[in-house]
Parts: sequence; C-alpha cells; structure tokens
Amino acid sequence: MKRPIVLTGITTSGSPHLGNYVGAIKPAIDASKKENNNSFFFLADYHAIVKTKDSKRIAQSTLEIASAWIALGLDPTQVTFYRQSDIPEITELSWILNTIAAKGLLNRAHAYKSAVQQNLAIKEDEDAGISMGLFGYPVLMAADILMFNAEVVPVGKDQVQHIEMARDIAQRFNHLYGKTFELPNAHIDQKTSVLTGLDGRKMSKSYDNTIPLFCTENQLKKYINKIKTNILEPGESKDPNDSIIFEIWSAFATEEETEFMRLAFKDGIGWGDAKRKLFHLINGSLIEARETYFQLLNKPEDIEEILNEGSKKARPLAQSRIKKIRESIGLKPLF
Ligand code: ADP
Ligand code: TRP
Repeated sequence: MKRPIVLTGITTSGSPHLGNYVGAIKPAIDASKKENNNSFFFLADYHAIVKTKDSKRIAQSTLEIASAWIALGLDPTQVTFYRQSDIPEITELSWILNTIAAKGLLNRAHAYKSAVQQNLAIKEDEDAGISMGLFGYPVLMAADILMFNAEVVPVGKDQVQHIEMARDIAQRFNHLYGKTFELPNAHIDQKTSVLTGLDGRKMSKSYDNTIPLFCTENQLKKYINKIKTNILEPGESKDPNDSIIFEIWSAFATEEETEFMRLAFKDGIGWGDAKRKLFHLINGSLIEARETYFQLLNKPEDIEEILNEGSKKARPLAQSRIKKIRESIGLKPLF
C-alpha cells in the first residue's frame, strides 16, 4: 500500500518558539511516528532570506531549529530531514511553478496583503520594501510540497492559505501538462489555535514577541511573567477565551488539565498563580528535550552530518522528479 507522504518546514529566521512547537514540530513528529507514514521535514532557509537579511541569524537559526527537531524526538533514520537549499531542484521547480501561478492568486496572499496595508497606513507607496521574494513566497512553498508529492502538510492555521495556493498551482499544472502532482492538504491540530505572542500579535520569529521553546528555567519564568493580563484581581471570575495564558495552557495540556484551568478561571484564579501553573506545565513538557537541545548546539558537526545524510536521501528523489517534470513541459534532449 502506498504510504501517505507527510511534509513540513520551518523558516530558519530566528530561534524556535512555542508556536512553532505546537503548530508544526509536535504534530509533525507525532505524525512521523505513525508507522504508515513517509515523512519529509526540512529547514526552509530560502524562505528565511525573504524575512531577514541578517546572515548570522540565519546560520544560527538553522543550527537551533535542526537541534530542536532532533531534541524533541525526530528520528533522522526514520524520516527524511534536510535543508531546503541543499536541494537545488526545489528552486528549479519554483521557477517552473512561477510560470503558471496566477499573479491574481498571489495578490491575495495574507503576508503580501498585510505588507501593502502597512505601507498604505503610513502613506507610503504600496509596494515599498516588498521584494519579489515576499510576493513569490507561496510559490516556493508550493515547490517544497509538490517536489515530493506530499499529501499531508502539518502546519499552524496561519499557513493554511499557502497550502491552498499549492493545491491551486498543482491543479493548474496537472490540467496543463497531465496528472503530475498529488493535491496537498493542510493538517491542523484542532486543539491548538495560532498562539499569541507577548505583544498580542501572532507569536512569530518576525515580530520578536516569542516565548523561546528552549531557554533556562529562569528565563522561561520571566517570559511567562511578561504575558499580558488584565486588571482583574484574584477571586474575580476571568474569561478563559480572552486570555493568552489559557490559550498557551490549552496547547500543552491534556483535556482534563484544560477543563481544570477553565474552572479555575471561572473561580477567579489570580494571574500570578495561573502563570506559575503555566510555567510548571510547559517546563515539565520540555525539561528532557531541553538538555539534549543545549548539548546539540555545541555539536554543529553532528547536525551537519545528519543534514548531509538527509539530503543524500532527498536529492535523488528530487532529481528524478524534476527530470520528469522538465520532460512534461518540453525541456528535454532533442533526440
Ligand atoms: P514564524 O512566524 O515564527 O517565522 P514559521 O513561519 O517558521 O514561524 O512557521 C513554522 C511553522 O510553525 C508553521 O507551520 C507555522 O504555522 C507554525 N507557527 C508559527 N507561529 C505559530 C503560532 N504563533 N502558533 C501556531 N503555530 C505557529
Ligand atoms: N512558510 C512556512 C512558514 O513560514 C514554512 C514552510 C516553508 C513550509 N515551506 C513549507 C511549511 C512547506 C509547510 C510546507 O511557516
């Protein structure tokens, strides 16, 4: 029986944070442990250069995110774990897909639209500071996914539109050149929403508003203490649906623990108490992985070796796929 292909990537533009963990890393590792899957996980470094021009940050982030995946239980012998830029066929496919992706489709991408809105809000030219890389970001993502014919793509809710665009582009290609690509589906952990960051916006490496996935216990406590709350006193009933603490709690907790906290909110738990409980919950889930993570950061050569092995598995597949794709669009030897 054909094994469903699971694929996801994380942009190497900063330190991994709690949102990356609950939205992508954890569901992806869980999915990879189902026997029947064939998983591809990668470091999206060509996406990272769209988001930051800080080359040191990108190199450090690559080490941190790869170490986080491994520390959290990804088994590189069971999955294909690689760096996007080690597989040049992906960027080649991205160009091919650019020639069929409709500009109108990309005009509707949330990230591009919000960059335009921000420009208009400050009376700038609507395209100020917007690169073609940002505009074409979803096309490169489609290439990541379609290169390996992935059907299951575990991502946070913020990425759903991109997966729909990949589907759209795949359908268009199939229509023009014959069935080539499977249509991918976003897999979203129903339990977790998009986690909110310390400033009230989506938690994101791009906003410097994150709670890092791995830091010392003391730092974790400090970050949790920074989470915004309101002025309600202990003893006053609180609305769990209007609280970042409850949101993060639910992403890490079992159903029973979530119900426990919901009741505690109703009963007027104090913010200090809620933050302490949240610290213990998160710390408990990460404590073991944290140690491994910090050890791995000191062994970049081990991580490099793992990524090299990963690209040795991924590249031949990409090469044979791109050969067929080139042929189907008419790029082939003359005889
Ligand atoms: P960032 O916005 O921090 O740069 P990425 O774009 O690298 O994060 O996202 C990698 C994965 O982590 C994606 O699947 C994305 O949906 C998920 N993710 C990122 N931020 C969050 C969040 N705040 N809540 C849930 N999932 C998230
Ligand atoms: N763009 C994704 C993000 O910012 C990361 C990513 C790149 C990705 N390529 C992908 C996720 C392919 C899933 C599939 O979150």
